[in-house]
Amino acid sequence: MKALVLSGGKGTRLRPLTYTTAKQLIPVANKPIIFFVLDQIVEAGITDIGVVISPETGPLVKEAVGDGSRWGAKITYILQEEPLGLAHAVLTARPYLGEDPFLMFLGDNLIQGGVKKAVADFAREAPQALIMLKEVPDPRAFGVAVLDGQNRVVRLVEKPKEPPSNLALVGIYLFAPAIHQAIERIRPSWRGELEITDAIQELLHLGHRVAARRIEGWWLDTGKKDDILEANRAVLDAYAKADIRGEVDGSSRITGRVEIGEGTLVKNSIVRGPAVIGKNCAVVDCFVGPFTAVGDGSRLFNVGIEHSVILEACELKDIQRIEDSLLGRNARVCRSGDGRRALRMFLGDDAQLVI
Ligand code: DAU
Repeated sequence: MKALVLSGGKGTRLRPLTYTTAKQLIPVANKPIIFFVLDQIVEAGITDIGVVISPETGPLVKEAVGDGSRWGAKITYILQEEPLGLAHAVLTARPYLGEDPFLMFLGDNLIQGGVKKAVADFAREAPQALIMLKEVPDPRAFGVAVLDGQNRVVRLVEKPKEPPSNLALVGIYLFAPAIHQAIERIRPSWRGELEITDAIQELLHLGHRVAARRIEGWWLDTGKKDDILEANRAVLDAYAKADIRGEVDGSSRITGRVEIGEGTLVKNSIVRGPAVIGKNCAVVDCFVGPFTAVGDGSRLFNVGIEHSVILEACELKDIQRIEDSLLGRNARVCRSGDGRRALRMFLGDDAQLVI
């Protein structure tokens, strides 16, 4: 069994961060999302992994993920020249996939508890596809499935304006090679993409069996800023450990599960977990509240912050309260101290500032 991780696409909803990085590389709890994906694949016993990349961000993904030895896996990179859809990514990966069954994992999706059980169920029951479904309040942004009274999949539709159910398709799928024949038969959708949802619908037309599993735990689709914050919250909640490697002075108080990296100094501050502060940071006269991740080399002075993701090498100074924020690398937020009330900004394209 192989795995195919989709790490191409444009990531437009995460601009400006995705001007300089791939959305699958944005960290939650200080670790790139795609690393969690690879953890979950390897945990399910699959080590032959294809990673679909784009010409724009592919080199960055390759640099971060490498040859897979970090996971004891063998990684093959597959270049998709244009983001023409999830089924197009499978078509592009066809020479790599051959006639093997495979687990397809969108590089920006994560589910609680991983995929071990789904992979074992698929191997045992041998349907042509196994999909995962999750009840969501607004299914219009997803693929949507309709089940019959016996929980069999009867219909699938991609991003419907009027959803026929509230069961969204999670971006994790298991396929037998019959999916390739189904992909050959579909046409691009209204948004110009070859949709994997249409290909699975085509499997049903062809009389194949599509199994479905409802997932009960969390599902994270990290397509937008608030999704990243939610992913950071869920991942810190589930995985943060108490692990202090840096230096914490006597007037600081660390409570709950807090990770502090090597070379970091915490001085006269309160840090409440779950939270993670990377390596070589300075946190001085601060309150760092729950669900905060601070990237390596960042410097925080006289700042209150919670429920936020701060990437590497940021500088925050004299800001009473920051929350629900996502800052890219090298961002700087400070108070001028000259007593004037004007805001002085130097924001990148597509930046957002809420005052
Ligand atoms: O997250 C679950 C949803 O993912 C499903 O409910 C939908 O049925 C499915 O179509 C997909 O919808 P999105 O619109 O959220 O997909 P997105 O364009 O964000 O792409 C998902 C991942 O696949 C992302 O990591 C980028 C990558 N990708 C995307 C395209 C279109 C590729 O590698 N190549 C592509 O051509």
